[in-house]
Amino acid sequence: MVDLRFDSEPEKSSLGMRVDPGRGDAMAVQGSGGSSKTGRGNVGGADVGVDVGEKMLKIGVGTGATLGTEMEVGQAEMGFELLSQGKWTKGRDSKCCFGEIHLKVYEKHRTSDSSSATHNVPIQPRSLSYVNNAPPPSFLSQGDLIMVLEWIWWRPKKLERLLKEQGITITPYNLVMGDLKEIFKHFSEARSKPMNLSHDIIPRVSPFDLQTIQKYGKKSAFWFGTTPRLYIMDPDLIRDILSRKFDHFALVKGNPLLRFFLGGLVTYEGEKWAKHRRIINPAFHMEKLKHMLSAFYTSSNDMVSKWEKLITLEGSCELDVWPELQNLTGDAISRAAFGSSYEKGKRVFKLQDEQAELFIQSFRTAFIPGFSLLPTKRNKRMKKNHKEISAILMDIINKRQKTMKGGEANNNDLLGLLLKSNQKEIQENKNKKNVGMTMEDVIEECKLFYFAGQETTSGLLVWTMIVLSMHPEWQMRAREEVLQIIGKNKPNFDGLSHLKIVTMILYEVLRLYPPLLNIARCTYKNIKLGEISLPPGIELLLPIVLVHHDHEIWGEDAEKFKPERFAEGISKATKNQVSFFPFSWGPKICIGQNFAMVEAKMALAMILQRFAFELSPSYAHAPTTVITLYPQYGAQIILHKL
Ligand code: HEM
Repeated sequence: MVDLRFDSEPEKSSLGMRVDPGRGDAMAVQGSGGSSKTGRGNVGGADVGVDVGEKMLKIGVGTGATLGTEMEVGQAEMGFELLSQGKWTKGRDSKCCFGEIHLKVYEKHRTSDSSSATHNVPIQPRSLSYVNNAPPPSFLSQGDLIMVLEWIWWRPKKLERLLKEQGITITPYNLVMGDLKEIFKHFSEARSKPMNLSHDIIPRVSPFDLQTIQKYGKKSAFWFGTTPRLYIMDPDLIRDILSRKFDHFALVKGNPLLRFFLGGLVTYEGEKWAKHRRIINPAFHMEKLKHMLSAFYTSSNDMVSKWEKLITLEGSCELDVWPELQNLTGDAISRAAFGSSYEKGKRVFKLQDEQAELFIQSFRTAFIPGFSLLPTKRNKRMKKNHKEISAILMDIINKRQKTMKGGEANNNDLLGLLLKSNQKEIQENKNKKNVGMTMEDVIEECKLFYFAGQETTSGLLVWTMIVLSMHPEWQMRAREEVLQIIGKNKPNFDGLSHLKIVTMILYEVLRLYPPLLNIARCTYKNIKLGEISLPPGIELLLPIVLVHHDHEIWGEDAEKFKPERFAEGISKATKNQVSFFPFSWGPKICIGQNFAMVEAKMALAMILQRFAFELSPSYAHAPTTVITLYPQYGAQIILHKL
């Protein structure tokens, strides 16, 4: 049994709530205007707090962790009724209700200009009901129902109106799902067959976005569930959003399960972000990367040596290089991050791979509030992995700290550099509070290095091999350059930094096949963006891939592979606009971009030194994305020994 109970005398409620005996056992909750009145109640075992202020009706619902919502009643033109079909029973000091709970939302309309009387017009959905003679599922109590209504109807409709007032076209709102069904449908259709061998990948990787923009224009938005997502394709606005630190735009809080495998810098904002970025930055300085070169070399050497062994007497072999390159970047980051503890690091990263997989599986249920709290098999597995990962990392870090104190440790890996920088920060700010990073903080950052750096860099490498197979003339030019500058020797830092053609090629691959297709931010207060005034609660989608393929920006040959665009660097190619941002831009730009570029150059130089390569007839061109862009059916390539 579930009870609905408010701790007040219903007939003369001091809470701005009224139990209306005239309507049987219905109870109406209305914004009353005037002074703020507050109260607490209990719905289905959950705390309910009601605060009726002058213009605001706040309802907070707690189920252990405090959930909350606020509904702006504006000039009290909206209201809702909590109807109960159930039976009211007087408890010792409160009323309880058993049976069916019924909720109704309405807009209040003034009956005439002079009259203050209102009549209530129900808005769709007319009512929601919840039968509560069985215990409610733990993720949805009756109190949550009020929140649900705000979430699925009031808020979306209000935001829709505000966007339309700004001249922004938005797709029609579908209850709860928004455009998610359409997005999935387009996406599954696009994934169902490979595409022709061209770089015109948008219809396959972003089919819904393409269709929406073709239909409604670049100044348009769609519904990601109940939240409007606005396309931002103008490079000036992209610059504005990415450069204005965090006082204007917030990160998008997505799937709550994300916390089990991704934390750290990329998820932080404000002071916490600034502190962590300051501490981590030194570990990624070019000078420090030089020390990590041997990690990149060892991993690349292991891979190409293995490939050499696969080559038959005829001097060639066919290989799906996608898993090979994923393994390479996982190996490289494990060595670069943990040095001597690299084997243990690999175990962590294996578990992180599983976490990513489980996380991806959870996408479809992610938008149901509370779903992540259910004890499903997947959720339990994620929690278990999370614990194991933390325990291994804690052990690695503890041991490292001990050896550092004893002065024995080699601190040139990411972990060592991070701990050293953290110690320095703590020493320099002895008298301040919350100085430095905690053990948990360090664990989160280590996990992030792997997630942020592995699939992204392997994506860059795999598309480079595919594209260079499609454009053998550029493969030849790149090889000539490598042989001219590095010869057949072990690549060193200096040699790699002189590879101009290779760099141009990598940039052009990052333009056509950016590992991350989008960056998202959201508004959390009223904000002016260019000519548009945006309310809080709008998500801004910065579609890297659409901007990189935009003909208005890159010309009619935007879909062509032309590394010469970057012959004089990025600023010349973009005319100083933010139209090429595979690593993002501004203060939150990828901290690992130099790391990734050096690693990719090392691997590519070593491949080019030893092999010529071409696409196998069994290769099917099928770029697709879940988190990063990858070849759906693998990358079957024929390697010829040089
Ligand atoms: C080709 C390879 C890579 C690409 C394309 C890439 C791309 C990106 C992008 C677009 C962001 C911004 C995300 C956002 O703000 O929503 C980002 C952030 C980040 N990346 Fe990378 N990344 C790459 C490699 C790496 C590597 C190798 C590492 C570390 C070893 C790394 C660590 C990070 C971190 C820590 C952040 C968060 C920075 C912050 O929020 O201050 N990335 N990356």
